[in-house]
Amino acid sequence: MNPEYGVKKESFLSRAMAAGAALMLLVLPTWAADSAERETVWLSSLDLGKMTAGWGEPQIDRSVQEKPISIGGKRFDKGVGTHATSAMYIDLKRDAKRFSAFVGVDDEVNGNVGSVEFRVYGDHKLLWTSGLIKAGDRAREADVDLRGVKTLMLLVKSGGDGVSYDHANWADAKFEIVGDKPEAIDPPVEKAIILTPKPSPKPRINGAKVFGVRPGSPFLFTIPATGNRPMEFSAKRLPDGLRLDKRTGRITGSVAKRGKYVATLGAKNALGETERELRIVVGDKLALTPPMGWNSWYCFFTTVTDKMMRDAADAMVNTGMINHGYSYVNIDDGWMIKPDSNDPAIGGEPRDAAGKINSNRNFPDMKGLTDYIHSKGLKAGLYTSPGPLTCAGYTGTYQHEELDAQRFAEWGFDFLKYDWCSYGRIAKDNSLDERQKPYFVMKAALAKLDRDFIYNLCQYGMSNVWEWGAEVGGHCWRTTGDLGIATSLYDNVVRYGFFHDGKEKWAGPGHWNDPDYLLIGWIGWKGALRPTPLSPNEQYTHVSLWCLLAAPLIFSGDMTKLDEFTLSLLTNDEVIEIDQDPLGRQASRISQEDDRHVWAKDMEDGSKAVGLFNTGEIATTVTARWPDLGISGKQRVRDLWRQKDIGIFESSFSAEVPRHGAVLVRLFPVR
Ligand code: GLA
Repeated sequence: MNPEYGVKKESFLSRAMAAGAALMLLVLPTWAADSAERETVWLSSLDLGKMTAGWGEPQIDRSVQEKPISIGGKRFDKGVGTHATSAMYIDLKRDAKRFSAFVGVDDEVNGNVGSVEFRVYGDHKLLWTSGLIKAGDRAREADVDLRGVKTLMLLVKSGGDGVSYDHANWADAKFEIVGDKPEAIDPPVEKAIILTPKPSPKPRINGAKVFGVRPGSPFLFTIPATGNRPMEFSAKRLPDGLRLDKRTGRITGSVAKRGKYVATLGAKNALGETERELRIVVGDKLALTPPMGWNSWYCFFTTVTDKMMRDAADAMVNTGMINHGYSYVNIDDGWMIKPDSNDPAIGGEPRDAAGKINSNRNFPDMKGLTDYIHSKGLKAGLYTSPGPLTCAGYTGTYQHEELDAQRFAEWGFDFLKYDWCSYGRIAKDNSLDERQKPYFVMKAALAKLDRDFIYNLCQYGMSNVWEWGAEVGGHCWRTTGDLGIATSLYDNVVRYGFFHDGKEKWAGPGHWNDPDYLLIGWIGWKGALRPTPLSPNEQYTHVSLWCLLAAPLIFSGDMTKLDEFTLSLLTNDEVIEIDQDPLGRQASRISQEDDRHVWAKDMEDGSKAVGLFNTGEIATTVTARWPDLGISGKQRVRDLWRQKDIGIFESSFSAEVPRHGAVLVRLFPVR
């Protein structure tokens, strides 16, 4: 971590010294080398347990699928077969003179679309790159002078189209050494550094500044405020029909009359008081800012129970997440009956005599559950599929749409995730009409209810759902496949995140692009919870990017295992403000040079939120230039993770961004 700001200026002296040192390195080792016998060490003789691979395991003198190495029709006896993204650190003991190899995609991918780039770094400097290599291309030759280099890093990255079929060979790869043999070492360990300052003990009102509700619908808004308790809340100019509980900060009731109301919320404790406006918009639009909350999928999968949901609600309050604007506690797949299951907990009659859907025995009292969640000032969500079955094979809603919507409302839910899944069997073809149809049906069913439902479409981006998600009534729609919990999660985070460039015009108040959940903290498959595979900097990238994208902020790790670092990532109010800004813009790409990406979005107050990302394997300087951002003149730059002003900048801002890391800033014009 620890990004450093500003470009370091090289003095003439330092450059001259560096040049001198380089000259010495060039001259001395050559002389030394010439006087000693050079020895060959094959890369495949090093400890390949230290080489990472995005799929499979690195192989000695074989491809990643354990076949003879073959690139562009040419066979190689020796080498290492791996898979992007793959990295290996090697301590050269300063005794290696040369590294050489033939690199390329293994022919075993057989006409598939693998594309990669091989890179060789020495002491954090790029020494050699293959450029883009595609499956079927002839092997490219690497011949790298290693004199003076202490630590080498061999990298295979995807060619920019994801890592599928990126079977990559370092064929014939060898070192020429004089002296000690190179040794594979562990990659540098990144510390989880908490940047988010602890919230002030004085009152501060956080979260959404604008809130939508339909006329007559039950209203629930808990004023999210940090600061010491006890705290007393106030609300001036609430529309008729709403009342505030001064002790809990919960505003409830319902508003009959359409319109825009501007209330002033207040929070007071022994140390001070604060006020903030809340715009309450009574009309047809909901989710005027991206929904924030938690979903059970990535930590409990179908083992989810009523108790786990209640525990999650408790944790949302006890950890203070509620004070930063988190409000939804959502059950994913697995609460219904699984037809044909012999397990008494989940088997049984899918529906009652009237056709109403049953929950399974892990959810004995759905109304009791939502009452419990509401009693905490939170809201409740659930999941179903327009098909006969959900993705996990539980009862879906097909041909019971109205009945199910009514049932969800009776139970007291506030959020519905509607997951395509087995509807694929019902749809006649892949036409837009067929893709939209089930979502229109549920839109109509939800419209008839006297409760507000956030309607979350889930169909993985088919037929460019972002272009029509709002038309079928969606408040947010998954734009991509599942992020997944594989070790290659980082690749998905940046690939799915950056996929949103160009889709910014489809996001806005009431309709958001949804790149899936925040996969930090403890996540896992079928009860086997483990810490996220994302490194600390990758986690900063994940949250920074999701906030810039104005994505729903739905955490999906175990709420009862929230450590301080994870909590610090979820509860930075200045970072959340980027996500929750009432203008509702989604960021887009401003520039990209190699691994350096700059993304930015406009904020309602005229400032800009800017993310500097480094997707590369070593720290690098990333620069945001004013002309690229469409601004000019002096800007006050504020570091949002540290919540600190960095200084006034004239025409650009540069920061040292660590490997796979992010720096998130806000630019305020200086007038
Ligand atoms: C799909 C969705 C996930 C999750 C599962 C449940 O894969 O994309 O988010 O809801 O189904 O089975």
